Amino acid sequence: EMKDNTVIIVFGASGDLAKKKTFPALFGLFRQGFLPPDVKIVGYARTKMERDDFCARAVSYIKNAQNDAEITASIGKFKDLLSYVTGSYDDGAGFDALDVHLKDIEAKYTSKDRNRLFYFALPPNVFVTVAKNIKEHCYAEPGVNRIIVEKPFGKDLDSARELLSSLKQYWSEEETYRIDHYLGKEMVKNILVLRFANVTVGGIWDKSHISNVQITFKEPFGTEGRGGYFDSFGIIRDVLQNHLLQVLSILTMERPVSFSAEDIRDEKVKVLRSIPPITREDTLLGQYVGADGKPGYLEDETVPRGSVCPTFAATTLWINNPRWEGVPFILKAGKALNEAKVEVRIQFKDVTQGIFDDITRNELVIRIQPSEAIYLKMNAKTPGLQTRAMATEMDLTYNRRFADAKIPEAYEALILDALQGDHSNFVRHDELDVAWKIFTPILHWIDGTSGTRPSPVGYAYGSRGPAELNAFVERYGYQRTNSSYEWPVTKLG
Ligand code: BG6
Repeated sequence: EMKDNTVIIVFGASGDLAKKKTFPALFGLFRQGFLPPDVKIVGYARTKMERDDFCARAVSYIKNAQNDAEITASIGKFKDLLSYVTGSYDDGAGFDALDVHLKDIEAKYTSKDRNRLFYFALPPNVFVTVAKNIKEHCYAEPGVNRIIVEKPFGKDLDSARELLSSLKQYWSEEETYRIDHYLGKEMVKNILVLRFANVTVGGIWDKSHISNVQITFKEPFGTEGRGGYFDSFGIIRDVLQNHLLQVLSILTMERPVSFSAEDIRDEKVKVLRSIPPITREDTLLGQYVGADGKPGYLEDETVPRGSVCPTFAATTLWINNPRWEGVPFILKAGKALNEAKVEVRIQFKDVTQGIFDDITRNELVIRIQPSEAIYLKMNAKTPGLQTRAMATEMDLTYNRRFADAKIPEAYEALILDALQGDHSNFVRHDELDVAWKIFTPILHWIDGTSGTRPSPVGYAYGSRGPAELNAFVERYGYQRTNSSYEWPVTKLG
């Protein structure tokens, strides 16, 4: 879609998100030949900087530990695409200067088409002003104009609606690409294929076969200086309401009429609308405390004293439709845990009683990261002369099965989609609305807007989470494997 004559403008170009995610992703696309020919990339931010300093900063997070000559050469060529404009976010004059700069670039293009992709690597308090200023000062006509924005999209249903409608004054839904970077992850994109391209998977995807589902996000580090932002949001807004709920909707939606963006998003919205707001009874909140020399959440200097913000949450969602009635979907996420892991774990029901004792349930695990894998925990005959069942697995581990494949970074996949005008993996306005409906009551309870604030239970930095967690998931029917079965992840290279 956006073919030749494309300029990508990165707002907040001197900030962390741009440096760590946006520019490395743009570089990845460039290096693999996926950016439009003659593309130019313009940074815009308040910080005064020379072009060289900007370029140095923009490439500072590009991985090249071995000083590979080919990568070094690509970085050099990538820098040639970059330029930088300093300006404020609320003053039209800066945007006029940007527009002049963009027109200079475009004057060198042979065709008159103009394609401008505006990337917001910005804090939310300037979303609306920047959206307005771009529209009023930098909108290419005729041309294709798009904006890419990223969470936080408000703090609850009302504030999200207000933000959405403010942005809508200037940018249409068609022009807006709302990132949830989990939708760009390879294994999240894989869910649709697994479900709808396999009779075996599709046939067991319901309440008759599935006992319970867990979607788990674990990070081994705490806020570590990012506490200011985190504390006003908390783990539910940071991870559950967006990333994990997106995974849930793809996992549970009905088959879309086609793979077009609207057909997919129609089905996602439909299933989300069948989910009632989460209740307090279905929620477990935690906050990490110091352990083994690692500081507790409240010891982070950027965290307000005495904060009761949850850094861990487990919540159970229910879907009121005939496919999923009665199946608990447990979303759980935590910072400062024992490992880095994101996975979906679908636990199936027991086999009919009578011929086996002590048999383990089937589980289908979609391991989103790290070390992408899909495996089905299943029972097989113990090899040898006895007829006894044992727990084992069918294993599709990506770095073994597809040893030479390069799995793209989420932001690479999404920026490419936005360039190509494909909205499938972006969040539509009504998806966001219904996501907030599900979470707003529990968030207001946690924020204290509806009475006393709940206190999260403590868990040690580096642990599996609150001690109450096992009992919590077992309450929803999850059965821990009784044998000593463990997926042999450690054998991987
Ligand atoms: C972000 C959250 O959206 O996702 C962070 O704000 C979190 O707190 C991050 O660390 C996790 O992303 P990933 O891609 O590392 O799993």
